[in-house]
Amino acid sequence: MEERSQWGTNIGFLFAAIGSAVGLGNIWRFPYVAYENGGGAFLIPYVVALFTAGIPILMLEFALGHHKVASAPKAFHQIDSKWEWLGWWAVTFVLFGISLYYIVIIGWCVNYMLFSLNLAWGDDPNAFFFTKFLKVPFDEALQAPANGQVWAMSGLRWTIAGAVALVWLTNWAIVYGGVQRGIERAAKVMMPLLFVITLAIIVWALFLPGAGKGVRHYVTPDFSKITDLKVWIGAYGQIFFSLSLGFGIMIAYSSYLSRDANIFRNSLIVGFSNSIYEVCAGFGVFSILGYMATQQDQEISDVVSSGIGLAFVAYPKAISLLPFGELFGFLFFLLLIIAGISSSISIIEAFTSAILDKFTLPRKKVITAICVLGFVGSLLFATNVGLLWLDIVDHFLNQYGLITVGIVEAFVVGWLYRTDKLKAHIVSNLGLSGTRHKIFDYVVLQLWMYCLRFVTPVALGIAIVHSLIQEFASPYEGYPVSGVIVLGVGWLLITHIFAFGLSGLPWRGETSR
Ligand code: ALA
Repeated sequence: MEERSQWGTNIGFLFAAIGSAVGLGNIWRFPYVAYENGGGAFLIPYVVALFTAGIPILMLEFALGHHKVASAPKAFHQIDSKWEWLGWWAVTFVLFGISLYYIVIIGWCVNYMLFSLNLAWGDDPNAFFFTKFLKVPFDEALQAPANGQVWAMSGLRWTIAGAVALVWLTNWAIVYGGVQRGIERAAKVMMPLLFVITLAIIVWALFLPGAGKGVRHYVTPDFSKITDLKVWIGAYGQIFFSLSLGFGIMIAYSSYLSRDANIFRNSLIVGFSNSIYEVCAGFGVFSILGYMATQQDQEISDVVSSGIGLAFVAYPKAISLLPFGELFGFLFFLLLIIAGISSSISIIEAFTSAILDKFTLPRKKVITAICVLGFVGSLLFATNVGLLWLDIVDHFLNQYGLITVGIVEAFVVGWLYRTDKLKAHIVSNLGLSGTRHKIFDYVVLQLWMYCLRFVTPVALGIAIVHSLIQEFASPYEGYPVSGVIVLGVGWLLITHIFAFGLSGLPWRGETSR
């Protein structure tokens, strides 16, 4: 039997965990979510979500993985074998769902990094992205993809498939090396690089003419939005995706920590680093939009686009206007690639760790099999309708997959397992004594327990019920009902069946400690 992996150092773990958290979600998703949900005012629900769900669930996942020395399925199995499916479901829909299209988006970035070198998108980045690059069915009147044609699949986009192969290969090469010599080593290179490129881009962007106009738009609060439930749901959704919560990743990653690791401190470092990173990235993104609006004598609202469009339509437009735009574009897409890969490797590791715990198979073979299957699965999103498919799958897996895992985790740990056992574990590694020890034990961590038992499930429950009501009111984004049912609901169901199947198989590895 192979020995359980371990991080070389706590810093190595922090780099890897922050690498998992900081991803595509921080660089292109956060700025437009913040903008759409009230700009500066969004920071209020965002911070509330960070403290009531983000950090509490992160600390839960870290403490659980570390205490049980187990991946998600094994950790839940040890609480009660009835809940093993939850761990399997998390790592399954994240690997055979989120990572499949996540890696396709990284593949787009690889293409766009090269396109930057000669500004290949020309004068119309919108038409270039949708009709030339993706070849997605297009509604000329709306100048947007034709969502109704979700089944009009006509073939693979070979340039995308090639880049996707390259990204899977890179992921394979890193994870194949193991936790310490693969992931940790790669994180120690990727994270400083990510930091330097981000800093360069933000500073570059902030000094552009018109940057102030963009930044003002980003931070000016629109308090009227704060009473809108959707804004709060946006904040919880962002925190979950961005901190890689409900992915099973943080449980696996902390299981590789040394026995004396300080879970409380690690949770705060990862939680705050991720949020500080995305709030800062927003300054860079909006400075660029401000510059573009100024150059074209337009308003920010005319140049900002939501979702995928921000990175692949609005940004290329701005890059074309910039002096040395080729270099800026190259660096920007490189940044997305690095941030994306440091997250996708963590998804692969979370599933690998679960398989190794249960079936004690050879690690390298498991990783190769996962990457081959993952590559084949990713091809589903590399066709001409890949964008439409990923939009539906992403919506359902985020809204219902991650949030459900969060609620059930909080319920199982908070109510069935008794959070005080995890609390005692966290306290024992704080290295405090006397009054400070008491403050942590009776105040700070007590608050954490109440949060997990009451606040987190209620907040996440409201989010899910509200989303469900919207779902029944009208199909998501005007997609055909068949698309929503097959791709959205179907993906959730199939991964569930798979998870139940895996949890029903006998354990070959150790289950108790
Ligand atoms: N946490 C990762 C991201 O934000 C998945 O992209």
